Amino acid sequence: MTLSLLFSILACGGETPEAEPAAPAAAPAPAAEPAPEPEPEPEPAAEAPAAKPGDAEAGKVVYDQYCVACHQADGTGMNGMLAASFVTDKDRLAKSDDELLTSIRDGMTGSIGMMPPWGTTLDQKQMEDSLAYIRATFGE
Ligand code: HEC
Repeated sequence: MTLSLLFSILACGGETPEAEPAAPAAAPAPAAEPAPEPEPEPEPAAEAPAAKPGDAEAGKVVYDQYCVACHQADGTGMNGMLAASFVTDKDRLAKSDDELLTSIRDGMTGSIGMMPPWGTTLDQKQMEDSLAYIRATFGE
């Protein structure tokens, strides 16, 4: 008879399954591991990039004051007519820092014309900074 059948099915289905055995207690803690070695060396303080001398940010101030009239804000020196173009004349920035700093300090005369010496106006750091700015801004 249908009802009793239904009943038995319900009764059967309603049976709560045997409670799952409780999950095993958390695995026993592994033998106390030696405390992680404390980092003995402090992270080296973030230093200014040591690779190249000069601070490009400070160099921008120098460039804007002393160099921009000839080399121009875009670094092309008026298409290389007024001063060396750092942008199109790749040979310029291919030179070493030493070479370029010598040019900046002592001035130079070449195919374009004459750059005055900056060694009496600027100190070494200002010259290095301006070169860093030039490299960072117009170099690749
Ligand atoms: C009066 C214009 C003038 C000013 C101002 C000037 N320059 Fe120049 N600069 C030149 C000229 C001209 C040349 C390229 C000379 C040549 O090769 O004919 C040059 C070349 C250079 C070069 C390439 C040097 C090399 O060895 O090829 C660098 C770097 C440079 N200038 C940096 C500077 C910096 C930095 C300043 C500012 C502190 C500055 N210049 C200001 C005119 C100027």
